[in-house]
Amino acid sequence: MAGPEQHGDSGHRRRVVLFSLPFHGHLNPMLKLAALLHARGLGVTVLHTCFNAPDPARHPELAFVPIHETLPDEATSPDSDILRKLLALNAACEAPFRAALASLLRGGRRDVACAVVDGQCYAAMAAAGELGVPALALRTDSAASFRNMLAWPRLRDAGYVPIKEEQLDEPVPGLEPLRVRDLIRVDGRDTDEHCSFVASVAGAVRASVSGIVINTFEAIEAAELAKIQRELSLPAFAVGPLHLLLGRTPPEEQSLHEPDRGCLAWLDARPPRSVLYVSLGSLARVDRGAFEVMAWGLAGSGVPFLWVVRPGSVAGGAAAAGDEAPPLPDRFEDEVRDRGKIVKWAPQREVLAHAAIAAFWTHCGWNSTLESICEGVPMLVQPCFADQMVTARYVTHEWGVGLEVGEEVVERGMVAKAVREAMAGDGGARMRERAHRLQMQASAAATSRPWTV
Ligand code: UDX
Repeated sequence: MAGPEQHGDSGHRRRVVLFSLPFHGHLNPMLKLAALLHARGLGVTVLHTCFNAPDPARHPELAFVPIHETLPDEATSPDSDILRKLLALNAACEAPFRAALASLLRGGRRDVACAVVDGQCYAAMAAAGELGVPALALRTDSAASFRNMLAWPRLRDAGYVPIKEEQLDEPVPGLEPLRVRDLIRVDGRDTDEHCSFVASVAGAVRASVSGIVINTFEAIEAAELAKIQRELSLPAFAVGPLHLLLGRTPPEEQSLHEPDRGCLAWLDARPPRSVLYVSLGSLARVDRGAFEVMAWGLAGSGVPFLWVVRPGSVAGGAAAAGDEAPPLPDRFEDEVRDRGKIVKWAPQREVLAHAAIAAFWTHCGWNSTLESICEGVPMLVQPCFADQMVTARYVTHEWGVGLEVGEEVVERGMVAKAVREAMAGDGGARMRERAHRLQMQASAAATSRPWTV
């Protein structure tokens, strides 16, 4: 049963119902879209899980309704990979989402014009379809990554998936510039479960939605958008970069952790373009060996850095699941004392906009990638799973604004060399120029959108 609506927005306007999976990188773009729709005069109701629930006090203009799901551990545990989480969330949200939407429709919300649901939540797409509510799917990854998902049956029939070691460097026909090693993967695997998840998403999109909304912009993905439209015979709308559309000081974001704002003062004391920002996003986990190579690569590079070491971001050990950040290697802090700042969570958008930042060592989560592009910051890429593999390839080989740290971070000398090249080498300078061009194009896209506020 849906609970009572909390907060604002009880007028008689045409209404959009939104539903996002409870991941940081999904909720924030969805809430930005909600704010934009509201600013255009629509009523907005956000259905949401109780797990990682959005804070209604931050969005008094929106109405919030919890769906009261019951989640199994694997939906939320830091020990389960993204695929397990997605499958468990879809299963657990299906009935409560349907009930909540039906209850809205019955209970006086006859003004519901359409639903915008998470593009990974096939359960919500299908439920909206069954209830006769026109639905759009919001993709919080890139258009290229979504195309990769849609192509999965063809890739399987052509023998590209399951991925085989000896084919890793082969180009994938129809998905250029991707090679087999750049295809979406979960923990290096592409199991039957992965195939069935991808098939469920593609099936629900084809059967239940009237269009796709993608947090991207045409200057970087026009070709991919056109191909998606052709392949699905559905409209695909580029609506991004969403975070630029709400102006330079959008409402405070939902945050996984309290951002450590002290790092901004630390950056203030640094010369322009001198600091490498390092963060692997909100979900990725690396093993202890890769973490140590990252640490010693940073130490060996000699460059100043701001490093987000998130609780739970290193697999194994006592701190893997708690609120404590994983321990740094012995002697590391002594070695980098004057030039390294380590935080559990950073105000990332402000960090990337800071004049002291020269480059971003990123896992290529789509939000991080867009945020870096929008600030003209070149990247060092270390994709960890899923769409990050696809995005990393576009960053390095399509848009030319990133260098690889190495898909497997295995050797500290190589890491240090890549860091120095991105910060001070010729490759870094060329990337910076191109990143500046993309920044201008992103900003032009944002100002050209009729719904920008
Ligand atoms: C993953 C995927 O890779 C992404 O493409 C997908 O659509 C969602 O799941 P995630 O690990 O959350 O994403 O990365 P990303 O999409 O980059 O989002 C991370 C967000 O957290 C960014 O908006 C970033 O600004 C924010 N962040 C990260 C902080 O605010 N502070 C930090 O210290 C780290």
